[in-house]
Amino acid sequence: MEFNNDLGRLQRLVALSSAGISRRQAILKKLIINPNDKIIDIGCGAGDLLIDLAKAIDSGGHVYGLDPSEDQISNASIKCTEFNNITFLKSNADKIDLSDNTCNVATSTQTFEYIKNVDDALMETKRILKSGAYFINISVLWDYFGFYGAEKKLNEKIHDAFKAHCCHQMLPMELPGKLSDLGFINIKNKSLSFIITHRDQNSPAKYAEDVIAFFVKSQGISETEVNDWKEQINRAEKEGRFGFTSFPVLTEAFLNKI
Ligand SMILES: C[S@@+](CC[C@H](N)C(=O)[O-])C[C@H]1O[C@@H](n2cnc3c(N)ncnc32)[C@H](O)[C@@H]1O
Repeated sequence: MEFNNDLGRLQRLVALSSAGISRRQAILKKLIINPNDKIIDIGCGAGDLLIDLAKAIDSGGHVYGLDPSEDQISNASIKCTEFNNITFLKSNADKIDLSDNTCNVATSTQTFEYIKNVDDALMETKRILKSGAYFINISVLWDYFGFYGAEKKLNEKIHDAFKAHCCHQMLPMELPGKLSDLGFINIKNKSLSFIITHRDQNSPAKYAEDVIAFFVKSQGISETEVNDWKEQINRAEKEGRFGFTSFPVLTEAFLNKI
């Protein structure tokens, strides 16, 4: 899935919702940033985390925001305009324009699961990290991402069609093994799962519904089916039988380069 135009806009709204805020908080709580650290955020999107990272370092440190999407980078650049210690790298994560052993920290949120050649991207991340560097990633267990309240058959059809939006649906289950193979140690997974039963402007469910509706139309689901699904969800919410669940997982590890 490409995060440009309407999908980019909706993704940026998800990033500003309670889900985006709590993910950034989970990462920031774990980080022990030194003023001279060089930090890369892989798949930086609209750059919300970059600002928090840039504030935590001083002139000896630097923050890199990497994203292949022109749309995301241009929104992030506007947001980060006050910070001269942030550099944007417009590229895929499997080809990072940094020298070997540059960064002390790599962060990433809901990105690696979209990268087809995820092993190459992790290898490239290892290349630009110093020995002892800290890697922290949040990816979603997409099998547990979903809306409840619409008619079962239609709901399943919509969710099945949405599966094509992401190539590594259960990455957090596989990531520890991949990291271990690359020489990462002290690998830990932590659940950030949540449930929502009411939607408001701050709710990721509000925007996730639109992302799904937009995407599944490209997968052969008709406009009528999508509208029916949305209407059924609305009714379910009004009648107090609506739910949305998501199961992000925070994975952390340290790199032991021999
Ligand atoms: C769901 S968004 C997450 C953005 C941001 N991390 C956040 O939490 O708001 C995924 C981001 O990954 C980027 N992306 C997609 N493929 C990528 C790749 N191969 N390498 C690096 N980033 C990629 C997209 O452009 C998009 O901005």
